[in-house]
Amino acid sequence: TTTTTQEKMNDQFIIIAHRGASAYSPEHTIDSYQMALELGADYIEIDLQMTKDGELVALHDHTVDRTTNGKGHVRSYTLKELKNLDAGSWFNEEFPSQANPSFESLKIPTLEEIFQYFGDDVLYYIETKKPSIYPGMEEKLVELLRKYNLIGEQIHDSKVILQSFSPESLNHIHKMEPTIPLIQLLSYKQPAMLTKNELTKLKEYAVGVGPNFDMISEEYIKTARAAGLLVHPYTVNQTNDMEKLIDWGATGAFTNYSDTLYNILKQT
Ligand code: G3P
Ligand code: CA
Repeated sequence: TTTTTQEKMNDQFIIIAHRGASAYSPEHTIDSYQMALELGADYIEIDLQMTKDGELVALHDHTVDRTTNGKGHVRSYTLKELKNLDAGSWFNEEFPSQANPSFESLKIPTLEEIFQYFGDDVLYYIETKKPSIYPGMEEKLVELLRKYNLIGEQIHDSKVILQSFSPESLNHIHKMEPTIPLIQLLSYKQPAMLTKNELTKLKEYAVGVGPNFDMISEEYIKTARAAGLLVHPYTVNQTNDMEKLIDWGATGAFTNYSDTLYNILKQT
């Protein structure tokens, strides 16, 4: 039997592997996603950028500078050019205690390669990054989700959750495919609140919110939950923060340490 979002999303606290097992291996590589699943993750988190020739690739930044041996904007590279870059050596240099020579050969994966590799046995949690600089990104994403049968007939049958800081991007997707569960990412600079007005707007297209964990309170979570919204805070790497958020009633969390969160959940 395969797992659907329904079993995970509404019934238990979900472990979202932030950029893969990114504490232990180079973020946004197939190896890192695979490791995260082995460490107990429920969802693989994927950030999307788009190449010059319109291919969706997994990368956090809109430039290749930080996580490859190249320089410049992703959108100035064709996929072929991007595939020449080394997407693992930076990790060995940055984190010598976690370094592994096998990381040196890792490449930036396309979204399609990720779907081909993992199929529909896993759950995906995908972010449209910088959608304003990538016209057509949502159409391309939906096309691939259809091709690989990752969209359910009902919202709870979905193999994928989509997330974005851009409400426009989420609304655009919602119009194309209303049964894809959507999470509105939010970045708070001060203690977070949700007004009735905001909750009403969010519920028109989203099933939940993804706030930065350090600005939210138990009250914030309870308010969102009372309105029927899921709450998936990011990026939670410390044991005490994980325990606190579980206690407060959050419904999942993004983490670089899927293993730590898995072990906590096993004990509760
Ligand atoms: O997508 C949730 C969280 O990942 C947002 O932060 O910058 O790591 O994509 P970022
Ligand atoms: Ca992200």
